[in-house]
Amino acid sequence: MLSELDQIQTDALAALATIADEAALEEVRVGFLGKKGRLTIASGGMKDVAPDLKKDVGQKLNEVRTAITEALEEKGAALTAARDAAAFASLDPTLPARALPQGGLHPLTHVLDRAVAVLRRMGFALADGPEIETEWHCFDALNTPADHPARNESDTFYFESGKLLRTHTSSVQIRTMESAVPPIRIIAPGSAFRRDEIDATHLSAFHQLEGLYVAPGVTLADLKGTLEFFFREIFGSRTEVRFRPHFFPFTEPSFEVDLKLHAIGRAAKWVEIAGCGMVDPAVFTEVNRKRGDSAYDPSAITGFAFGMGLDRLAMILYGIPDLRLLIENDVRFLEQFA
Ligand code: PHE
Repeated sequence: MLSELDQIQTDALAALATIADEAALEEVRVGFLGKKGRLTIASGGMKDVAPDLKKDVGQKLNEVRTAITEALEEKGAALTAARDAAAFASLDPTLPARALPQGGLHPLTHVLDRAVAVLRRMGFALADGPEIETEWHCFDALNTPADHPARNESDTFYFESGKLLRTHTSSVQIRTMESAVPPIRIIAPGSAFRRDEIDATHLSAFHQLEGLYVAPGVTLADLKGTLEFFFREIFGSRTEVRFRPHFFPFTEPSFEVDLKLHAIGRAAKWVEIAGCGMVDPAVFTEVNRKRGDSAYDPSAITGFAFGMGLDRLAMILYGIPDLRLLIENDVRFLEQFA
């Protein structure tokens, strides 16, 4: 029996030495250790072994089983390693990785970031206010009487509560003056809403950038200097800026600002870009009344305000022909700015 066991071990190891795949490995395992395997059958002979030899034969049986089991494991590991090595052989880990798709900023965000950066350098701080506004903040406090056409239901989105979608960011002027005392110097970018017919130059939701500077001794020269500097920073130093007398209820005098660009390779022509003016004393008076103090004493302080369309700024800066491109989210359009 002892020599038979030696022979089984020798045969098992010899069989393992020649195999080349995992199916053959399994065959060897079944052939020696399986239910009808040679070692299993041989161990069935234990019962016929003379009692004084049982200990030696039993020990031998264990040795042989261990040797075959270990050899099987070793061969298995070697086969797995060989398979992995083959799989990696055709792979070049030094190749550059496939590029991940990268996001980009919307053209409006680009314009806004640039505008805010310039104005912050001039000392303007960011302010904001709600898009759903009271009539008082949007109109009354801005010296806009009840019969003004801007307040008409055909021009403004009203809620049943009497509130409205702000028609301009000028309401943030009022919000700021309600809660802060002069000197104040703020800009407020944000959405504004009007019941316009939608076309290439009008959307019912658009974006504005409001500015307000209130302090003792602020003059029209400050307003002109600020806007000229701003537009030349954005559009280039050759940009011409024109102030055309206009009317806004909340500024006096009031102007529309036109730009003439020379730097973008197109025929130069005047385009309207902003509204502005000196804060009307009636606005300060109404703010004081609401505050219950005289922080905005019209005889002690003056101020200027401006508001411009950010969408329009983007159109001019990038030569975008149709406003609707800014809201359609067409990747072919947007990826040009990434
Ligand atoms: N709110 C005005 C508009 O929407 C623009 C403006 C802002 C004018 C501030 C004067 C001062 O047309």
